[in-house]
Amino acid sequence: MASHSVFKDETKLDINYIPSKLPHRDSEHRLLMEFFSFMLRYPERMAQRVIVTGDVGTGKTALTQRFGADMTSETKKRAIKFRYIHINCREYRGSLALILHHAVAVFRPTYPSRGFSGEEILRTLLQVLDEEDMHVILTLDEFDSVIEKEGSDAVYKLTRLQEMQQGKPQRTSFIFIIRDLKSIEQLDASAKSTLQRNIISLERYGKDQLIDILNDRVVMAFELGAVPEDVVFLVSELAIGESGNARFAIELLWRAGKYADAEDAELVEPECVRKAVSAIIPGLRRSELASLGLHERLLLLGVARYFKESQEAYASLGEIEKAYGVVCEEFDEQPRGSTQVYNYVQYLSSLGILKAEVATVATRGRSTRISLPAIPAVELEKQLSASLEKDKA
Ligand SMILES: Nc1ncnc2c1ncn2[C@@H]1O[C@H](COP(=O)(O)OP(=O)(O)OP(=O)(O)O)[C@@H](O)[C@H]1O
Ligand SMILES: [Mg+2]
Repeated sequence: MASHSVFKDETKLDINYIPSKLPHRDSEHRLLMEFFSFMLRYPERMAQRVIVTGDVGTGKTALTQRFGADMTSETKKRAIKFRYIHINCREYRGSLALILHHAVAVFRPTYPSRGFSGEEILRTLLQVLDEEDMHVILTLDEFDSVIEKEGSDAVYKLTRLQEMQQGKPQRTSFIFIIRDLKSIEQLDASAKSTLQRNIISLERYGKDQLIDILNDRVVMAFELGAVPEDVVFLVSELAIGESGNARFAIELLWRAGKYADAEDAELVEPECVRKAVSAIIPGLRRSELASLGLHERLLLLGVARYFKESQEAYASLGEIEKAYGVVCEEFDEQPRGSTQVYNYVQYLSSLGILKAEVATVATRGRSTRISLPAIPAVELEKQLSASLEKDKA
């Protein structure tokens, strides 16, 4: 137990904390405000659809939640009945019915969660909003999971919801958060065109931007002078290596502070950062595991089990697909097709959890070799089993 702490308020480093100002997201915030400026003047005359896109940790969730809170206070000043509703679609496994149910439950907490189709829940939502004379912005975070599960249809249903209201007061606007715009490429042309009009793209942060973001948090979370400037530089440099992921930077800073406290140190020293980094880089970050989809985790569990049993360092795509199939059976899930499995492997590899290399085999052309470079298979299996069991319960 440390008697002294470098932290003043470590909740300011929590992944769910939304600061009142987001450095380097001013223009994007202003753009959102502009897209929704009608909400402050004639909310019933319009409905809006906006896409927010960007890589992991570029601030999509933080930006929209900040915007939602600001819009809430602006509408309040003007006595406009408004609710900002932010839903993480992955938590509902991409099921539109469950997501819409959650939206209804915001106003009608006792609305039964079973026995209604997506269409019926949509109608209920409209009716409830009419009854309350309410306007909403529904932010569907990690919308990729809905497209993956329901395809174009989901987008149609949601846009039809707005069209059904023609001639009547408009009540529902949408913000779709999509990590990878490729996932809307698979939609057909008309679903795509309804979505593509208003896109806000968040670029990856550079080193100087990360330094500004970190400095803000340092002031809020740490005792004065507890974090030397060099340490902030070091952390931001390491985060650049992780594609400019602000979440990684903030989590690293927090862990470094924990190491400093464990040693009862006055300062967060570079050595604390190095310890923190070696504890998280060759492993699976809790935030990352939580953000993986069900099938990505099922596949990863297959990989973990394969390498636990095998003496080989590499597996073929076919072997991994087989192991994934066995896991799916165990969890009573329909396995995804080979193309999707390949996409999962690419994605997990881009996160650095797996490594996928294309090897040229003389007689058979190109093939993909998969390895697990830095995480012990036993550890990976343990973490995934726990996460999947939690889902089941
Ligand atoms: N410009 C910023 N200023 C301050 N904090 C930021 C900024 N951008 C991101 N953050 C913080 O970094 C972390 C990650 O941001 P956020 O969760 O919004 O990323 P994301 O784009 O939604 O990532 P993912 O694709 O994984 O969902 C959060 O703790 C957030 O508060
Ligand atoms: Mg997010």
